[in-house]
Formats: sequence, C-alpha cells, structure tokens
Amino acid sequence: MNDNYNLTWDQEIMKLTINGTEYDIAQEPPRPLLWVLRDELGLTGTKFGCGAGFCGACTVHIDGEAVRSCVTPLTTVTGEIRTIEGLSLIAEDGTIQLHPVQQAFLDDQVPQCSWCMSGQMMTAAAFLAKNPAPTEKEIVEAMSENYCRCGCYFRVKNAVAKAAQQMTVKEETAV
Ligand code: FES
Ligand code: FES
Repeated sequence: MNDNYNLTWDQEIMKLTINGTEYDIAQEPPRPLLWVLRDELGLTGTKFGCGAGFCGACTVHIDGEAVRSCVTPLTTVTGEIRTIEGLSLIAEDGTIQLHPVQQAFLDDQVPQCSWCMSGQMMTAAAFLAKNPAPTEKEIVEAMSENYCRCGCYFRVKNAVAKAAQQMTVKEETAV
C-alpha cells in the first residue's frame, strides 16, 4: 500500500474571515489559500490559472492588499480576506451595488472568456483604493502582471480609468 494512504493530519482549526463571514478551517494538510476558497468553500469566482504566482487569475485581497492566493499558504493568512464575491456591496434594501470597477467592466463589456477577470478586477480595486486618481501609465503598470489570454488589455485599461473617474465623482459629490 502507498504510504500516503497512512498519513493522518492534525485537525487543528484556524479562523478565516472571508467577505465578512468567519469560517473554521482545518490547518492541515498544507495547502494554498486558493484551494480552500474554491474547493472547500465553493467561492469559485477566484480562478486557478498558472498555480505559480505569475498570471494573477487567483488574486484576492488580504487586508486590502492584492495577493495571489495560489501561492499563499493557508497558515500564513492572518488578515481579512475579500474575494470577488464580496467586492460588491449589499444595500439596505437588499439590492446589489456593484463596485465601480465591476460596473465599469460590465459597462465596457471588457471580458471575453472571463477567466482572468475576477483577478483583474480585484487587482484594479486594490490599486484604486490606494491611488484613486491614477495616470494612464500608472494603470498600465498596476495591471501589467495580470495576464489575459484573450488580449483584453486595452479594454481593461480603459475600464480601470473609467472606474477611477466614477470613484472621484462619487467622492466629490459626497463632500
Ligand atoms: S493562478 Fe495564481 S497567479 Fe496564476
Ligand atoms: S478574458 Fe479570457 S483570459 Fe482574459
């Protein structure tokens, strides 16, 4: 018999807060955060692309920072996680209020096959939270590590710029 069949894992539990909900997750076996999100919690909006930290398809936020969940060991996670399923807001009347980045991607019909898109939007949302009025060059740089096999880069750039404009207008209106 293969020795692997005899492995037993210590079922020590850790708490993960994801999109505002707390989950109890077994720490073992060692696995990346992406496995937990998709296979254990069914949060399949976050995609598996390269599995090696290169493509950005698996991007989520941890305490507001864009991170690649395919190369983030579960047990290193200490902050609050946000996935694409938690990027929009639920208004008091129960309606869904899309994040400006989601709205701009939708309005501009950015996706083609869509596989990379949750990673693109999570990267853009984290970027705009830090730099709400970026130049075109800054947008290109910020998005340059998120690959799109369908080549939607031009539309991604324009939609991020549009989201930035909408966020600025909202802030000005709120003042
Ligand atoms: S799947 Fe994580 S960076 Fe490609
Ligand atoms: S829309 Fe197909 S990979 Fe980006």
